[in-house]
Amino acid sequence: MAIMNIKKFFIQTFGCQMNVYDSERVGYLLEGEGYERAEAPEEADLIFLNTCSVREKPAQKVYSALGRFQGLKERNPRLLIGVGGCVAQQEGEGLLERFSYVDFVLGTKELPRLKGILKDLEGSGKRQTAIGLEGRVDPYALLPSYSPRSKACSFVSIMQGCDNYCTYCVVPFVRGREVSRPSRDILEEIRSLASCGVKEVTLLGQNVNSYGQKPGGEIGFVQLLEAVEAISGIERIRFTTSHPKDLSGDLAGAFGRLSRLCEHIHLPLQSGSDRILRRMNRGYTREEYWEKVQALRRNCPDISITADLMVGFPGEAEEDFAATVKMIERVQFDEFFSFKYSDRPQTRARLFADKVSEDVSQRRLEEIQTLQKKITRQRNKRWEGREVEVLVEGRSKTNAEESAGRTRTRHLVNFSGKYDPDGALVKLKITKALAHSLIGEALPRGETPS
Ligand code: 5AD
Ligand code: SF4
Repeated sequence: MAIMNIKKFFIQTFGCQMNVYDSERVGYLLEGEGYERAEAPEEADLIFLNTCSVREKPAQKVYSALGRFQGLKERNPRLLIGVGGCVAQQEGEGLLERFSYVDFVLGTKELPRLKGILKDLEGSGKRQTAIGLEGRVDPYALLPSYSPRSKACSFVSIMQGCDNYCTYCVVPFVRGREVSRPSRDILEEIRSLASCGVKEVTLLGQNVNSYGQKPGGEIGFVQLLEAVEAISGIERIRFTTSHPKDLSGDLAGAFGRLSRLCEHIHLPLQSGSDRILRRMNRGYTREEYWEKVQALRRNCPDISITADLMVGFPGEAEEDFAATVKMIERVQFDEFFSFKYSDRPQTRARLFADKVSEDVSQRRLEEIQTLQKKITRQRNKRWEGREVEVLVEGRSKTNAEESAGRTRTRHLVNFSGKYDPDGALVKLKITKALAHSLIGEALPRGETPS
């Protein structure tokens, strides 16, 4: 009989790693409340959509997902539907007005209120909105301390919000002012993750390089990395995202010095034109970006560098775009994510004149993607014949007989041979480089990669 009463939840996550982390925390909280995970939304008593509004496309996806869930609600009136994350923060009450079947809206800093909201909904049935933003210093401190079931890799939030106000970006408006989590809480969470078998942590924040310089943090980012390095059981440390203007020489040096810090950095460039970078309010020039890249490669010759790039920012002329192409050729990124500019609510750039047409943006996007494809292939080639360490993350997506894992440089490697459990650190020789991945073969046990 008790089984009949067990409630199930389904979480759909859009957007960045911060949302993935928040969804994990929500899932963990719900499990603590006696809920079980549903395999599909059709089985759920509670559906939670964790949303992203950074660009127009992901924001639209949220609305089509909501449309799909409407039918479920008609079939199961007991079903609760909640919207969290950046669209929730942005739209607030408006979501309840627009979607009669949405039961609650939970802002980016309101996760700890979920429990109370669910109780109220069960009691009074009254639909709820919680979207407070400022003054909520560290929502994670109010959530149950986090130690998930055993897995190899985990995210850890170290700061929230952003004070940079790049003119195209909605983040400062939906994630609030920059606030660092106390290092004590972060380190405790990582120790707890390590004791559950986690081997790799990715420290998350919109601008991790300024960790500790804003309210909440009491040590700097490099000191935080050093403290994580000292936690036994953690074999790999990653972080994202770095802002180029705040990347210090000290951090570049840490890549050469800290043995657990993986040789990869995501360093969004956005544009290679100084004029556009200024209009974007990015706070660095192409030359300054290039100097940081060189400092990173001096300290850590094998470092892989990835970026975000945007085309079609208002006022981007052909010569600005040509400067971006030149910069891509100069830096030789390992990979990048590229986007067409889209207007976002509240941002300054949405008011800028001289918008670039869709056709021009699309052509520019395709041009840089074609160029990068070639560069990625060449960059991947340098791994052929080399020995690497891979953290196994499961079976290969293309061949069930093979395993897949990532190198410290974050390259995906598929390899055959005896299946190693997830979380195993395996030594491999890279036999072939493909466009988006590498192929490896296992080295005899006991052999150490150079
Ligand atoms: N239009 C297009 N791309 C954007 N990004 C952020 N805001 C916008 C926007 N308005 C991109 C940036 C950022 C990434 C997460 O999304 O490249 O680094
Ligand atoms: Fe947005 Fe700029 Fe902050 Fe990144 S640094 S989150 S792009 S405002």
